[in-house]
Amino acid sequence: MKIGIIGAGNIGATLAQKFSMSGHSVKLAASRGPEALRELSNKVGATPVTPKEAVSDVDVIIVSIPFAKNAHLSGLFDKVPADVVVIDTSNYYPVRDGHIAAVSDGMAESVWASNQFGRPVVKAFNAILAGVLADQGKIRGAVGRIAIPVAGDNAAAKTIAQQLVDEAGFDSVDAGSLADSWRQQPGTPAYCTSLNAEELRVALQAADKARSPVNLRALMERLVDGWPSTDEMTALNREINVAG
Ligand SMILES: NC(=O)c1ccc[n+]([C@@H]2O[C@H](COP(=O)([O-])OP(=O)(O)OC[C@H]3O[C@@H](n4cnc5c(N)ncnc54)[C@H](OP(=O)(O)O)[C@@H]3O)[C@@H](O)[C@H]2O)c1
Repeated sequence: MKIGIIGAGNIGATLAQKFSMSGHSVKLAASRGPEALRELSNKVGATPVTPKEAVSDVDVIIVSIPFAKNAHLSGLFDKVPADVVVIDTSNYYPVRDGHIAAVSDGMAESVWASNQFGRPVVKAFNAILAGVLADQGKIRGAVGRIAIPVAGDNAAAKTIAQQLVDEAGFDSVDAGSLADSWRQQPGTPAYCTSLNAEELRVALQAADKARSPVNLRALMERLVDGWPSTDEMTALNREINVAG
């Protein structure tokens, strides 16, 4: 497939590398222009482009930028055909993203992102730590393979996102509609807890919408002394989001 990725950070660059290695043609865009992205793009096997070029003549677009910045992409998708799959990896962190009233009042984060883009999205790759995404993928069927939730309203688009999750080295779990995708947001048991598919299904059902912001604040308080390792962060998420 032809894949355009907007966001060349922890998640975007890792996905670019994985998908170029599995044989897809990948374009990579960021805030910086293509020239400044050249070295990274060479390393991950992608073509450096502008965001406008990243959404042109592709089958899949992955947007992986800080949540509030999704609003900057308004208008970018106006000429993108309806059958192009758009995947949103973002998460709302008020300390980084500022106060966004609709989301604070309960709108699912990817519904808000979809509204900014003016088109449907699939939510995927948001509930996995960057270090886990980069280093802990396994082949299909391997014991202990970690699962990633995938939510959205279009079955065909979701199937493609699930195929990409598999190629990235993870099982996927259908997490329902985009409106339901609050169940995989920060502070939920499904969020960055590195569960297998069976455990993830249980975690998605156990989500408590009122509890998530409380858990997120508890996590932030635990991070004031510095950023933990990937394994420590997974353990912390399990302690706070699963045990409550
Ligand atoms: N880090 C994680 O563990 C993790 C896990 C799952 C999901 N997520 C979510 O996925 C998203 C990306 O996370 P990340 O850790 O990869 O972020 P990151 O490392 O900070 O990278 C963000 C990327 O977005 C680009 N960018 C920012 N504003 C842009 C704009 N208006 N147009 C185009 N590109 C723009 C930046 O461009 P420049 O490179 O030019 O600055 C950068 O490449 C976030 O919403 C995050 O919450 C993160």
